[in-house]
Amino acid sequence: MHDEHMAQSDPEAAPLSALPHRGEREVETTLRPRKLDDFVGQPRVREQLQLVLESARRRGVPPDHVLLSGPPGLGKTSMAMIIAAELDAAIRITSGPALERAGDLAAMLSNLAEGDVLFIDEIHRIARPAEEMLYLAMEDFRVDVVVGKGPGATSIPLEIAPFTLVGATTRSGALTGPLRDRFGFTGQMEFYSPEELELVVERAATILGITVEPEGTAEIARRSRGTPRIANRLLRRVRDYAEVRADGRATRDVVRAALRVYDVDELGLDRLDRAVLTALTRSFGGGPVGLSTLAVAVGEETTTVEEVCEPYLVRAGMLARTPRGRVATAAAWEHLGLRPPPEYSPVDGSAPTLFDQP
Ligand SMILES: Nc1ncnc2c1ncn2[C@@H]1O[C@H](COP(=O)(O)OP(=O)(O)OP(=O)(O)O)[C@@H](O)[C@H]1O
Ligand SMILES: [Mg+2]
Repeated sequence: MHDEHMAQSDPEAAPLSALPHRGEREVETTLRPRKLDDFVGQPRVREQLQLVLESARRRGVPPDHVLLSGPPGLGKTSMAMIIAAELDAAIRITSGPALERAGDLAAMLSNLAEGDVLFIDEIHRIARPAEEMLYLAMEDFRVDVVVGKGPGATSIPLEIAPFTLVGATTRSGALTGPLRDRFGFTGQMEFYSPEELELVVERAATILGITVEPEGTAEIARRSRGTPRIANRLLRRVRDYAEVRADGRATRDVVRAALRVYDVDELGLDRLDRAVLTALTRSFGGGPVGLSTLAVAVGEETTTVEEVCEPYLVRAGMLARTPRGRVATAAAWEHLGLRPPPEYSPVDGSAPTLFDQP
């Protein structure tokens, strides 16, 4: 049964949100892999980067600019820091939203030393004038600084030290063509398999001094939506439970009990995900139903349903977005323990299964 008047959830505080919680940055820093070899998963990006970095090292030049793209929590920031560490280079960190004025960027660029890594997070949110300055900097290691205003203004070319730009983005589609073209290499980060997430959890458990039995590790990995950030967070919630309600050891049963408290089910769906599926199946016979109708039925904002719930439900093969509206797949009925009506034929029988790579 779903509650029509469910309090609006804060998507950023939900245990299964891929976005970092407030105050979570600190523990994430502790858990960041430091070397390419410590980095679990992403075999393709790792191999490609290894070649880019090694070749640059042999030629004694800074490597090409690198763009890291992919959903939140998959390790883009961690990878940027690893690139700098592997190059034995200093890293300067900024973000698209912080570069509102071209002058902010000019100051950063002119302070770079040769071989430094400049990391720009959320690079798709960079303001236009800064972006245009970046073109020249990336291509020719030069900026044009405009001095003065109006007709008397002159532009003074300024040399900057050869550097490597590492950009990260959750929305590579939002990058302009000219910016994208100036990166020599784009690493496309993919969701992690449950087996890879087990390694992530084991590693974090060791660092945090948490005892988790292998079945417990597997259970956490399976519910983490292909995302290391979520895996590490669920591990910490399991630790809390194991310490307060058990003897500190995270057995499979302790993990299950802990995640039940946080409303995280066997497939990594939370209360809102299940409310959406329940409304879709029970109230609308499986759909198709419009997004806004569905959002009203679960008492949530349209954007929360669309941006927080749906991507994972689609990826898990439980919900399909069709031109006529949202549709529950057979897997959704099954997950809720329901039987689809006899005449029911899901529109999209070819929905991706849980851990298909996109
Ligand atoms: N491959 C990995 N191995 C081990 N831990 C990882 C890995 N990838 C990410 N993590 C952990 O997951 C957390 C989030 O990683 P990170 O901050 O690098 O993600 P991100 O892609 O930059 O996310 P965002 O898009 O929100 O900036 C960190 O605590 C990091 O330690
Ligand atoms: Mg990041």
